[in-house]
Amino acid sequence: MIEQLRKDFPLLHTHIEEQPICYFDSAATTQKPQSVIDAVNKFYQQENANVHRGAHTLSAAATTQYEAVRTKLADFLNVTSKEIVWTKGATDSLNLIAAGLSEKLSHDDVILISPLEHHANIVPWQQIAQKTGAKLEVLPADQQGVLDLEAAKQLINTLKPKILSVCHASNALGNIHDVAALITTAKPYNTITIVDGAQSLLHLRPDLSAMGCDFFVFSAHKALGPTGLGGLFGRYELLNDMPVYQTGGEMIERVSFSGTTFRDAPGKFEPGTPNISGVIGFGAALDYLNSVDAAALSKYEQGLYHYLLSALKAIDGIKVWGDTEHNIGVVSFTYKDEHHFDIATFLNTYGVAVRSGHHCTQPLMEHLSLSGTVRVSLAFYNSYNDVDTFIDALKDTIDMLEE
Ligand code: ALA
Repeated sequence: MIEQLRKDFPLLHTHIEEQPICYFDSAATTQKPQSVIDAVNKFYQQENANVHRGAHTLSAAATTQYEAVRTKLADFLNVTSKEIVWTKGATDSLNLIAAGLSEKLSHDDVILISPLEHHANIVPWQQIAQKTGAKLEVLPADQQGVLDLEAAKQLINTLKPKILSVCHASNALGNIHDVAALITTAKPYNTITIVDGAQSLLHLRPDLSAMGCDFFVFSAHKALGPTGLGGLFGRYELLNDMPVYQTGGEMIERVSFSGTTFRDAPGKFEPGTPNISGVIGFGAALDYLNSVDAAALSKYEQGLYHYLLSALKAIDGIKVWGDTEHNIGVVSFTYKDEHHFDIATFLNTYGVAVRSGHHCTQPLMEHLSLSGTVRVSLAFYNSYNDVDTFIDALKDTIDMLEE
């Protein structure tokens, strides 16, 4: 099955440093199936027009396609299409939400996040906290970077946060969080709950109605889609109640020199010409995801992850960080005191693409007393052969570093 699916991803059949590529950086961005590339090309070659403007055939067809993808995504997430806003990506979505919710915050209100957050789910809240006098608090995690769920629930009960914003899965360590349990705990306090799904959309395919969150953010490019596109889900009353974020054309109802009225959500959050080709490409990505056997792929990914984990742990001096029981398929490791950048650079000469560094999670790295890690992030299109290639390359790298 996997060998067949791998054929759909042209970049997996290319070379780095004259070696067949071994792509282990899907947490940074996933590779794209040919159908996504074709959909974007077809749009520009045959269908290009602006949306929501003009009576001509091309514009009407582009609008239909663009809005159909909104519905397709809403179905994928089990929400309604008027609750989906297109943005530039998860970072843009979090900034939009933080700005929109800021007027609900007053002095000493609590914004609660986890220690595993990406900077995109820390810095916007810090900025809003500074403006409003709200306090940014952090859930407890152990020395491996694993969230302590019981202590987290207790802290929610104590702090009664106004906002709880946590990642569904950590980009740095891969840990999966029981966000539904955190949301359930926070509900009695009318906490507004936000889930950063940048890493979970592809691997966990969340059902947002079951999860119960108020907001969910994602990036299309981490789920087989094009870069420069993302979005958010917002529970409609909350979403529509938020003030506009950026202003301009299309998001208005009526403009005069004496004032402007705005459309209802989602339109009021989508000023200007949107990323039409990105949305259409993402539609092809969703079609792809809907066409494969999700349960079988998830089982395969977990098998591959544990194969990788065992092989890594068998190497003397390797330390793997994070929660290896509940993980989307990210292995973050260190080797003795060797610098993560040196390891990643050597690996690249074997055609192995991994990320090294702090992974935009500096507070987490500080918590772990690390400057960074080497991160191997898997997707269903990785093969057992990829893992063997990586382990051989790592052993050679270690030999070189030890010389
Ligand atoms: N957030 C992306 C990563 O984890 C870029 O690599």
